[in-house]
Amino acid sequence: MKILGIETSCDETAASIIEAKPKDTKTKIISNIVASSLNLHSKTGGIIPEIAAREQIKYMIPVIKKALIEEIDAIAVTVGPGLIGSLLVGVETAKTLSYSWKKPIIPVNHLIGHIYANFIRTSSVQNEVEFPALALVVSGGHTDLVLMKNHGDLKLIGGTLDDAAGEAFDKIARLLNLSYPGGPAIENTALNGNPKAFNFPRPMIDSNDFNFSFSGLKTAVFREVQKIKDPNEKIISDIAASVQQAIVDVLTTKTLKSTEKLEVKSILISGGVSANQRLREQFLLSIKDLNLKIKFFAPEKNLSTDNAAIIATAAFFNYKPVHWSKITVNPELYFK
Ligand code: KG4
Ligand code: ZN
Repeated sequence: MKILGIETSCDETAASIIEAKPKDTKTKIISNIVASSLNLHSKTGGIIPEIAAREQIKYMIPVIKKALIEEIDAIAVTVGPGLIGSLLVGVETAKTLSYSWKKPIIPVNHLIGHIYANFIRTSSVQNEVEFPALALVVSGGHTDLVLMKNHGDLKLIGGTLDDAAGEAFDKIARLLNLSYPGGPAIENTALNGNPKAFNFPRPMIDSNDFNFSFSGLKTAVFREVQKIKDPNEKIISDIAASVQQAIVDVLTTKTLKSTEKLEVKSILISGGVSANQRLREQFLLSIKDLNLKIKFFAPEKNLSTDNAAIIATAAFFNYKPVHWSKITVNPELYFK
């Protein structure tokens, strides 16, 4: 079966075809096209929803045309969470295609889509996911821990009480006058910095639950930046490296602690922040140091950030078509 995925929840306009057979444990990418209005948003230092939605309209049809290199059997589309104007462009386009092509359509939760980045066959990851798995979704708006007993059996066990990890990267990058999006900018700047130079707080690292909080970290960095009289390159690199380390420490420590409590067999990280190299390395190192018998999965970096192959893959493993007339956007959608 071949599924056309459509993703327009934020500032990426994406379409992809994936292919898989009924018993497959991973999907194969046939095409994967992503257009982004990032350049426009980096000028404003953040996303202006109205601009993002207008750009979606411009890119939607050309992106689908480019991705559509083979006949398809079904359509999958992100219905939420996300920006309402952006979401509407993808959803209304998908509904129109479903109606005119007479193809089934599957609504997909963007966050579940992120988790499914780990169920796409790539040359770098040969391993198979074993259930139960613990999924850490770290994106611009979310830091969620999800217990996945099987496909279609997901339970949210923890989330952020305030800022998401990606949001912390983005807001702190702004404080440091770095570019948008902040995650890659901080990662790059951190390459020249000392992660131990500043001892920033690791909020809730020892709390006995599965929740996160990052707004205190942002405040701590703000206070530090205000103290600096001469913000030279070295200090900015040191702050970037120290902030990145604080976020990575919290994410890895809390996730690994949870795996022990929940007796899971795999960890799946996903979402934009999962592209972070330091985060990946520290997960692998800690699993080794703690001698945990657990498989670790991270998507290929271009599948960590928003794209439509993850949406089509989520639809393949949770194949529940809905009549096009019953599909609506849900900007506040979360895990049920
Ligand atoms: O999943 P995503 O592409 O979009 C959302 O669904 O939100 O995530 C975007 C977020 C942004 O906050 C961005 O700063 C962060 O992911 N991000 C990173 C990296 N690449 C993207 N954070 C840390 N390190 C990275 N390399
Ligand atoms: Zn996303």
